[in-house]
Amino acid sequence: MKISKVELEKSSERKFETTGDFLSFLTNEIHTVVASTVDDDGLPVTCVIDMMDSDENSLYFLTARGKGFYHRLKRQKFIALTGVKGKDTMSSVAVSVRGHVEEERDIVLSHLFEKNPYMLEIYPSEESRKALSAFRIYDGTGEFFDLSKRPIVRKSFSFGNCSSETAVMEISDNCTGCDLCLKSCPQQCIDISSVPFRIRSENCLMCGRCIEICPQKAVSRRRSYES
Ligand SMILES: Cc1cc2nc3c(=O)[nH]c(=O)nc-3n(C[C@H](O)[C@H](O)[C@H](O)COP(=O)(O)O)c2cc1C
Repeated sequence: MKISKVELEKSSERKFETTGDFLSFLTNEIHTVVASTVDDDGLPVTCVIDMMDSDENSLYFLTARGKGFYHRLKRQKFIALTGVKGKDTMSSVAVSVRGHVEEERDIVLSHLFEKNPYMLEIYPSEESRKALSAFRIYDGTGEFFDLSKRPIVRKSFSFGNCSSETAVMEISDNCTGCDLCLKSCPQQCIDISSVPFRIRSENCLMCGRCIEICPQKAVSRRRSYES
């Protein structure tokens, strides 16, 4: 069956209404992520990990207790990860998450295997599956970044007992409406309908050119917190 361009565009229109939608997208559509922990010398280490399940407040994954990754998780109780989906850079969507992590002894491994049957190829026998432990990521924050849209779309989210935290560009009352910022903005994400102008954070690349070019020094970068 041939899929029309309109149908294709519609299918790529995803609805992200709750944090669970971002976590579900990460689990079910991206699935394989690069996760970061820190080694004994305080230096970063990355490895490839599959997200096995999610709910409104958690992400679940599996690892084997013999791995260095397992021991880093037990020691640090914190993880950062990023997953990307797309056939090339300009069609890609990324989700990044950082949060607390704990070994989840109560989770039934067979449930994660039913949801991810390919795991039976890696750990075929019941005896071999005993090497695995499930971990839950909880109390975290995340960012969704869609480079396939014009302008780009950036959204932050949080789950569990955490506030969403993101960097934004802010224009102060010193703005005179000269519009040099708009002329230099790669995503044209500055609302000039009233002075001071306003930067639409959800479409901003955070390139910082507006800060550099503003003659009034009216633009600054700040952290924004939402519960
Ligand atoms: C596509 C892919 C998916 C993987 N998924 C997992 C996973 O879900 N859990 C896991 O423990 N290892 C997984 N691995 C293997 C780890 O990336 C690998 O064991 C890594 O080296 C672990 O880090 P460590 O050697 O520092 O312990 C995966 C590897 C690939 C290539």
